[in-house]
Amino acid sequence: MKHPNTRKPAARRPLKTLDRVLSKAGAGSRTEARSWIGAGRVAVNGKIIQTPDHWVDLQRDKVTLDGAPLRKASHVYLLLYKPKGYLTTYKDPEGRPTVYDLLQNAPHVVPVGRLDLDTSGLLILTNDTQFAEQIMNPEYKVAKTYLLKAAGILSDEQLEQLRNGVELSDGMTRPAIVKRVRGREKSTFLELTITEGRNRQVRRMLEAVGSRVRKLVRTAIGDIGIGELEIGKWRELTPAEVRSLVPPNRPRQEPRRASGG
Ligand code: URA
Repeated sequence: MKHPNTRKPAARRPLKTLDRVLSKAGAGSRTEARSWIGAGRVAVNGKIIQTPDHWVDLQRDKVTLDGAPLRKASHVYLLLYKPKGYLTTYKDPEGRPTVYDLLQNAPHVVPVGRLDLDTSGLLILTNDTQFAEQIMNPEYKVAKTYLLKAAGILSDEQLEQLRNGVELSDGMTRPAIVKRVRGREKSTFLELTITEGRNRQVRRMLEAVGSRVRKLVRTAIGDIGIGELEIGKWRELTPAEVRSLVPPNRPRQEPRRASGG
């Protein structure tokens, strides 16, 4: 039988489902949270609740895991140098490696945007959803810089097209900074800086000007570069680095209202 509290009340209170409350508090992933709830390890106001969709009032309800009160997780911000061949997902049905295989002993975090399987470079992971939304929101104009090897010798006109914006299936791209790094016989190396993060954007931009990406590395997010970070390794961002990406004087977005599921 469903618990009577699985219907979302109409009142405008800060409500979240129990599995979400646990994962947002940094206790674990949503899947893990659901299994703990199912195993009877989670109580709300002293009563064991085994329904992950149970609505929790964040202002009033006391949630415990194994009898210990759930504390609000402090935010963590990680910087990973993702190698090629790793998916930016939690689990892959085909069993391919994911970035989580590289995050042993790290707190529970989720990627800010994604890098393709074949892309290497910098990836931020965090449990601060508001920060993640701001980094991904093109209005905040957080620059992402890529070093890429493109097929063929690109002309100055093709570079100018990339700078001015190209038409993709989901609309024109915003102006980009494009620098020719070097040209080889059959390929061109470019440094490209964009402030958007659409799906496969760089690859599609190069296709739009008649070329193809052969190699892609994200070398910087904002002013944060790879530096000493070794491929496959991660480190925490410093508070100053976090502030440099989303300065505190920027208007903070309204927190999203709790949604079901
Ligand atoms: N643009 C792409 O095309 N791929 C990435 O992985 C990142 C940006």
